[in-house]
Amino acid sequence: MRMGTKMHPFFSCFLLLLLVSPHSYGEKEEEDEFEEIKRSDFPKHFFFGASTSSYQIEGGYLEDGKGISNWDVFSHTPGKIINNDTGDVADDHYHRYLEDIELMHSMGMNAYRFSISWTRILPRGRFGKVNKRGINFYNKIIDNLLLKGIEPFVTIYHFDYPMELETRYESWMSSQMQDDFVDFANICFEEFGDRVKYWMTINEPEMVAILGYKKGNFPPAHCSPPFGNCSIGNSDREPLIVMHNQLLAHAKAVSLYRTHFQEKQGGSIGITISMQMYEPLDQQLDRKAADRFLAFHVGWIYDPIVYGDYPKKMREILGSELPSFSDEDKKYIKGSLDFTSINHYTTKYVKDCFHSSCTDEANRPINAFTETTPYRNGILIGDQMGMPGLYVVPRGMEKVINYIKQKYPNQSIFVTENGYSMPTSDGNKVEDIVNDWKRIKFHKSYLAALAKAMRNGGHVRGYFAWSLMDNFEWIRGYDTRFGLFYVDHLKTLERRPKLSAHWFTSFLGGYPLNFHPSE
Ligand code: BGC
Repeated sequence: MRMGTKMHPFFSCFLLLLLVSPHSYGEKEEEDEFEEIKRSDFPKHFFFGASTSSYQIEGGYLEDGKGISNWDVFSHTPGKIINNDTGDVADDHYHRYLEDIELMHSMGMNAYRFSISWTRILPRGRFGKVNKRGINFYNKIIDNLLLKGIEPFVTIYHFDYPMELETRYESWMSSQMQDDFVDFANICFEEFGDRVKYWMTINEPEMVAILGYKKGNFPPAHCSPPFGNCSIGNSDREPLIVMHNQLLAHAKAVSLYRTHFQEKQGGSIGITISMQMYEPLDQQLDRKAADRFLAFHVGWIYDPIVYGDYPKKMREILGSELPSFSDEDKKYIKGSLDFTSINHYTTKYVKDCFHSSCTDEANRPINAFTETTPYRNGILIGDQMGMPGLYVVPRGMEKVINYIKQKYPNQSIFVTENGYSMPTSDGNKVEDIVNDWKRIKFHKSYLAALAKAMRNGGHVRGYFAWSLMDNFEWIRGYDTRFGLFYVDHLKTLERRPKLSAHWFTSFLGGYPLNFHPSE
């Protein structure tokens, strides 16, 4: 067996783990039994890969003409990130990309999802020149992936944009951002579209809207009470404007792609949403609240993109606060996707706030008069992950696929992120971190739920683990680790396979041509 970095003694325990019979997670309300999962449970041409994003792994933040991004500025603001970590060096992928591609190749992955750093290509957005050295960097990545038989899945924008766009016109608060985004997308299609066949315009527009403009804990840190105490912002209105601009930016980029590139390049395009599952806390009383919550999260994005307008429920509750699409906009937006791309991690319960008492926040229209909770009768919905707010609930994977199938029929689906971060209480030593048997259980059980959804007619075409390696986990810095590979951020930046990397290697071994077990 060949790994990009040296093998280590955990391999034997890992073999033992493979023999462990299917089982369920610890104490929680509803047990999720799962079946043992095999590569052959998925179609032959299914994509199995890992996901990353530029700011979280690249580093090289001032190198080769790169401009300053919103995240460069934010992470350099004292107190914003745990331990005041920054992405200045991150995983140093900017210099180690060949090694990282080899890691995926060794695991037998046939796809890789990564994002383009806007400021590496356009340091000042539309207000400066294209940086050829940035283009070269991604050309090298794409070419080397293809050499190894790994299909590139490219996210055009994953949270990091040129700071100049913030300073000039407040970025996503302004419709000017649509033009900047389309300009950036155009360059990506022109430069990389001959080889990139899967494009995602924007990663998780609702996270940009909610974390940046409602809660204010992501840049540009806008919010207002009761959601937070930022120096600027309006948590009820701004997220709606920011989403509207992102949706139109997406739609215009798709239109550009379809008019000028798609026919000759033969690729496809979508948008990635964060799609968690929400179950009614009380099966009777909270059923409508759960539907409402999903409409306000998933429908907020996919209803306009598939059907041309926001969900009726949103209009009913938000009235004129919710922006409107003109007839011209509707022409662009309706049908502006070739596939759905969802990032799925967790499931929570939803409680109705029309008829029961809730917090101030939950009682706001922007929250659809709903509240979420991981508890039912004092019992957690699933094991808590290291990342606050995330619980292990494999059945959620099946449910999200069923939901997409019902609400947005005929769409093929990619699960572009799914992953686990270990609680720090499970140990902080390198040995504890690489011995990540809980991550293996997580992936096995979620994959089993995915296979079940596919047997029941879910048209899923690929699955990407978040993440290839430990990386800069936004405001949580390097303390929260989602990687299949451990990265020593403090000293050597060495990548070390965790048990889960070995598990993926074994799981994928049966199929991909580029896997050489005897080497
Ligand atoms: C984001 C990633 C992030 C992951 C884990 C997703 O919402 O796309 O950038 O690292 O969740 O928090």
